[in-house]
Amino acid sequence: MADNEGAPPPTTTQDERDLLQYQSRIDRPLTLKVPEFSRDERLRHVIFSRQFSVDLLEDLAGTADKIRQLSKVRAGQDFLIGLLSHKRTMLYFTQPSTRTFLSFMAACQILGITCNEVRDPSTSSETKGETRFDSIRMFSSYFDLIIMRSPVARLAEACAYLMNDLAATGNRSVPIVNAGSGADQHPTQALLDIYTLQRTFQFASPKDSPIGTRFDEIRRQFPQLTRGLAHKFYGFCGDIGRGRTVRSLADLLAGYEGVTLAFVAPRHPTLSLGDDLRQRLLTCGVRIIEAESLEEPIDGRPLIEQLDALYMTRIQKEHNNPADEAAFTAIDFSRYKLNRELVSRMKCYAPILHPFPRDQHFGEIPPEIDADPRAMYFRQARNGMWIRAALLAHIFNVDHQISRYFHERFEG
Ligand code: CP
Repeated sequence: MADNEGAPPPTTTQDERDLLQYQSRIDRPLTLKVPEFSRDERLRHVIFSRQFSVDLLEDLAGTADKIRQLSKVRAGQDFLIGLLSHKRTMLYFTQPSTRTFLSFMAACQILGITCNEVRDPSTSSETKGETRFDSIRMFSSYFDLIIMRSPVARLAEACAYLMNDLAATGNRSVPIVNAGSGADQHPTQALLDIYTLQRTFQFASPKDSPIGTRFDEIRRQFPQLTRGLAHKFYGFCGDIGRGRTVRSLADLLAGYEGVTLAFVAPRHPTLSLGDDLRQRLLTCGVRIIEAESLEEPIDGRPLIEQLDALYMTRIQKEHNNPADEAAFTAIDFSRYKLNRELVSRMKCYAPILHPFPRDQHFGEIPPEIDADPRAMYFRQARNGMWIRAALLAHIFNVDHQISRYFHERFEG
């Protein structure tokens, strides 16, 4: 046995050593981990998108719908703002964010939760050598919830274990919500993506669906079309390999019956579908198509014309290494950009989603598409505020109060 076996490499930081201490728990199958992130049949920590069952997704969407309805009237706003006015949240975002940070902040404000933030660790005592784990434990002393985004994959998961260990030893412990962890997971983005698709495929409002309420009329042209997310053909286009939003959403869509998922990306190991996700989806019985272009024929017809929904993504060139840079010069990236002609060939009811930000220099969705009724990405971002408010209501166990109040006010 080597002298240093089991010891961390000498160049590691305390943060890396802290993360290693959780490695054996991180490496377990998800089925063993998920129960540890729940308490009393509710989510306690939100770390992976696969913690959301289809039933829970329906439940959260129902709460989000009620919150958005109540928010339209002053009495409803006053009710919501009183629900969690005794709670405080830390938004610990050490990786840039616009939508996730602001929509969580707005969601907290809707429910009366007070927010505080650390976005730039150079303004915190991490500059004096404090580890991230000590920072997290300090936040848990002052706040009731920690919502965190980090460039470090698995950090949120390790922090959830830290909180569970603190609880087990009788110490103060608070829920952790993963707001994006490295190239790993972005579970609440998947939540808002699903919520947008749920609303779109209800065909109940012109604001949520390209065809509005013309479901019966459109079914004459598309007799297979059904309400809901099952039995649909979803396309993902762009940087599939590095997209944590793609991974998180694909994992959730796999829970719906009869879905087909098409992944359109350059044939390069950095950018195309990863083996881990492919294997998981196949295990769930998902039909997978891998293509290099939206024009590629599938069963004799171009892919773009068959999709029920299209999820565009940004090419994350900030993560390119020198080998990628060299290899990418041979790739025709124009295939991963939308234009009016391509969009005009999509089904009239098929929404175009994008987690945003889009890249104005690359132009995967040029602004000229924004006026098309299929462009659902701004609506999708706003949905993030409602569904995140619903998630907070679930974590703090006030969703039943929202339902009761809603039924009394609107259905009583
Ligand atoms: N979609 C998303 O996570 O956006 P931000 O990076 O702006 O939060």
